[in-house]
Amino acid sequence: MIYSSHNNLGVVKVLSFLKSHNTEYLSGQDLSDVLRISRVAVWKHIKKIREMGYKIESKQKLGYRLESNTDLLLPWEITSGLKTKVFGKQVYYFESIDSTQNQAMRMASNPANNGALVIAEKQTNGKGRLGRKWISPKGGIWFSIILHPQFDISVITLFPIASALALSNAIEKTLNIKSELKWPNDITVNGKKVAGMLVDASLESNKIENIVLGVGINFNVDVKQIEKMLKDTPNFYGVASLGEQNKTIKPILLVQTFLNELEEICTLLNSKDTKKIIKDWTVKSSTIGQNVELNTKEGKIKGKAIKIDHDGALIISENKKNVRVIEGDITYISK
Ligand code: BTN
Repeated sequence: MIYSSHNNLGVVKVLSFLKSHNTEYLSGQDLSDVLRISRVAVWKHIKKIREMGYKIESKQKLGYRLESNTDLLLPWEITSGLKTKVFGKQVYYFESIDSTQNQAMRMASNPANNGALVIAEKQTNGKGRLGRKWISPKGGIWFSIILHPQFDISVITLFPIASALALSNAIEKTLNIKSELKWPNDITVNGKKVAGMLVDASLESNKIENIVLGVGINFNVDVKQIEKMLKDTPNFYGVASLGEQNKTIKPILLVQTFLNELEEICTLLNSKDTKKIIKDWTVKSSTIGQNVELNTKEGKIKGKAIKIDHDGALIISENKKNVRVIEGDITYISK
């Protein structure tokens, strides 16, 4: 099942009316008259709205009243109250999909899809960094955003780092949880991974055609089950679920705040104002100052992570020499 605001106009119409009149009962006839749709259509839309997880009370002779909202990240829930200029203004929601990243990449070249979000309740073939699988059951927040960015190709390597910073800021603002950033773009809480980012870019003659940013947030997932499935993955260091830390927060607010933060950070990239991004990332980073090791094609690197460069590369001091790393998975080691 795929939902967007455009292909559910009737549902959105009925729902908006119920939302704005949720202190009173509205009869099928009232809804039919005001919204200029048949009573059968009203009934069908009410049924669908209930299937989407909204609670609608119905009382004989009185009618319908919206009791509570859904927790699903439905397009009209994300777009309503969204403060961004471009990001997330269009949302495509899938109950189940192989990978939002694959879907978004298929849609990415269309200029009309700049800023569009592809979101799924679950993914059957979620993709992680370095060709890994990303376990994506119901309860998590799995989405990809299509960008036709204005920023120059020279700052593109900073984009994943900037995106991780945007999500960490959003987590702090909405859930009041301090997260750390593990190079290159993992987000952790108490040393366990709560979110990851995947970037696919399409470049043409030194210009960015489009970028698809995939975001996976372990929100309300069964940590034990995921850890069991991932325990043999190289460099696996454990997962945590954000919802466990703060049970009151709604995922919609987190997604909306992230889109805001990301849009703001992209304006810094547009003006090549990268110093602030690097500074803020470093403050939140759990990597800088750590003894780390990683395997590269050229062999193992082992040393102290001292900083990230202007382009997001990690600088590791190994035997008093600085080594520059642009990709890979680091492991924290005790000295
Ligand atoms: C990582 O390995 O840390 C990156 C994980 C990225 C997962 C997200 S979930 C939404 C989007 N769709 C995918 O298939 N992957 C990304």
